[in-house]
Amino acid sequence: MIFQELNGTQCKTYLAGCENTHKAVLVDPVRERIDRYLAVLAYHGLKLDAIVDTHTHADHATASFEFQRLLGVRLIMHRRAPVPRVDEYVDDGDSICVGDVKLDVLYTPGHTPDSISLYVSDRVLTGDVMLIRGTGRADFAGGDAGIQYDSITGKLFELPDDTLVFPGHDYRGNTQSTIGEEKQHNPRIAGRSRKQYIELMNSIEFPLPSKIQEVLQPNQTAIDDDRTAFPDLAELSQVRQLSPGEVYARLKTDPAPLLLDVREPDEYTGELGHIPRSQLIPLKELSQRVGELNAYRDTPIIVVCRAGVRSTTAAAMLTGLGFSQVSNLKGGMLDWNDEEFAVER
Ligand SMILES: [Fe+2]
Repeated sequence: MIFQELNGTQCKTYLAGCENTHKAVLVDPVRERIDRYLAVLAYHGLKLDAIVDTHTHADHATASFEFQRLLGVRLIMHRRAPVPRVDEYVDDGDSICVGDVKLDVLYTPGHTPDSISLYVSDRVLTGDVMLIRGTGRADFAGGDAGIQYDSITGKLFELPDDTLVFPGHDYRGNTQSTIGEEKQHNPRIAGRSRKQYIELMNSIEFPLPSKIQEVLQPNQTAIDDDRTAFPDLAELSQVRQLSPGEVYARLKTDPAPLLLDVREPDEYTGELGHIPRSQLIPLKELSQRVGELNAYRDTPIIVVCRAGVRSTTAAAMLTGLGFSQVSNLKGGMLDWNDEEFAVER
């Protein structure tokens, strides 16, 4: 296997290539560096077969959509990924095959709900759930410190001690570690109970990533155009979140709320289906088509998408445009289906 970190910066992109088939996968590529990646692939005589984003990034624009567009490369992410442009959704226990290189998927949420780690040969790519002598933040975008502790201690620390660790970020110049070293020396985790870890993470004030407003919602939505003015984090955090059960109960009230589905048409009729009587306006068309919703300015609207992330963006946009009773289906059609409420396809 050809294995290389390609950025040489605090933000890591890994190349894994098969020497027999000359197929390669890039993990967490950064949009500004596409030219460099293409040059390295050409140097090794490798053909890009797949891209994996270990999670939805808040600190850099992903190169994935550009690679899809330019080369038709398949994008692979966890099934909880909010973005509509994923070609293959994976879950814990799945394998990703790139030629003879096999990457085993470990579902390791906590940094985000869609975080995976990739176990390949003698090493594990941990994304941002566990870093070298540190852990990724768990304080926004669906992060949860307790779940992160469970992922690290229950999944990553179950790997053999000599497994090499390659994280998605490093801020101190480290390049690799091992599971055994992190078990012993990771100052956030070693010797701490779950409760102590949560207390520690809650006590740290992390500065927001400098580019979060420019990159997080474009990465979550695959929308990157001037017509969509994304709400800011404060506006997103004010959106009222309803569980599937709460949405189900409200649908029985009179008048029933408008269900506004903001996914793409192929998702609306796809595997997860849609809630009966919901109206489809894809997020990328919402700014132009908002006039269609004028009758609902002062009546309840519940916004729906795949994972509840794009719909939170849409709900905050509508609230900003003066709609007074907008809320969001938390967990989107994924949770709606998991709780076995009715869908149409
Ligand atoms: Fe991250």
